[in-house]
Amino acid sequence: MEQQEWAQVVGAATRAPSIHNTQPWRFTATADQLEVFFDPHRALPVLDPTARQQVISCGIAVEFAVVALAAAGSLSEVELQPDADDPDHLATIRVIGPILATDEDRALAAAIEERHTVRDPFQSRPVPTELLDRLQAEAGAFGTWFKPVTREEEEVATVFLITRAEEMEQGDPAYLAELESWVRTDPAAVDGVPIGAVPSGDPHARPSNWTIRDFVVGTRASGGAAPAGDPDAPPPAVERPTVVLMGTDGDDRHAWLQAGRALGRVLLHATATGVAASPLTQALDWPATRTRLRSRLSLVGHPQMLLRMGYPQESSGRAVSGRRPVDEVLTVTSG
Ligand SMILES: Cc1cc2nc3c(=O)[nH]c(=O)nc-3n(C[C@H](O)[C@H](O)[C@H](O)COP(=O)(O)O)c2cc1C
Repeated sequence: MEQQEWAQVVGAATRAPSIHNTQPWRFTATADQLEVFFDPHRALPVLDPTARQQVISCGIAVEFAVVALAAAGSLSEVELQPDADDPDHLATIRVIGPILATDEDRALAAAIEERHTVRDPFQSRPVPTELLDRLQAEAGAFGTWFKPVTREEEEVATVFLITRAEEMEQGDPAYLAELESWVRTDPAAVDGVPIGAVPSGDPHARPSNWTIRDFVVGTRASGGAAPAGDPDAPPPAVERPTVVLMGTDGDDRHAWLQAGRALGRVLLHATATGVAASPLTQALDWPATRTRLRSRLSLVGHPQMLLRMGYPQESSGRAVSGRRPVDEVLTVTSG
């Protein structure tokens, strides 16, 4: 592979979603191999002290690279944690031969560019069961379970734990300081969460059980009542997004990478059929709520991701999150 081809593949990999858009990765490439490393300089010591969510993010980037290679006509194989002496060396992606890209390969690669985290309310139309079944099968190929939260008692418990975790976070100055350091007001920012990508209202005031992460609590004008609006207007429709829980049997870097790869496939297949998503991971940030989620839902294994899914409204007009330029994260050598 030429340097230019690797730059395209890594450009696709870096479109992966990452917790707080930290983009905690770096890459090195030789002729037929791409190495993916975790970059500890971009860590989130408060929110993610074990780097679980950041390693999941890197797993998504691995899978996006595999999809981009396939669409460009290169079959690849992935070896996770290839170097026992370097835990930050997360994956080797080896090109093993040419393939004829299928329509699906091309559709998934196109979805890499189209996908964005959509935090606004979705349309009321539910995500079809056939699509959820397909996504479950995609995730299962990576040893990752995919479970729509459908039973009422499961929903009640999950909603409670997300809300509880969000409250704990909003009361933790260290969490808020870390969050604030990753929120961006400059639309040209190459990392972090752009303020324009997040709904500006108070997530608690939204007609939904599912509390999205509040990125702007520190900057929202406090104390003032919400604008009164038209008193005769009908109440806003209550949101009923599809929410799915993904998890793995193990809970180590290998499992996190597999969960990330599964999530990457899930997001691209969903995007290709017009379904958007936003992670809702507050309950998984903290051992206390994560463990309780596990016991309240009688989960076998470890929850890794909570995802809100649905059909986006026609035009959200939200800002798109930035990415660091490829030459900042990729080193190509001839070795
Ligand atoms: C492991 C993980 C956890 C995330 N958790 C949340 C979350 O709790 N709330 C949220 O709104 N977005 C969450 N995100 C989405 C990121 O904020 C988003 O991917 C990032 O800002 C880049 O934006 P994009 O996905 O639109 O490219 C998460 C993403 C990942 C990979």
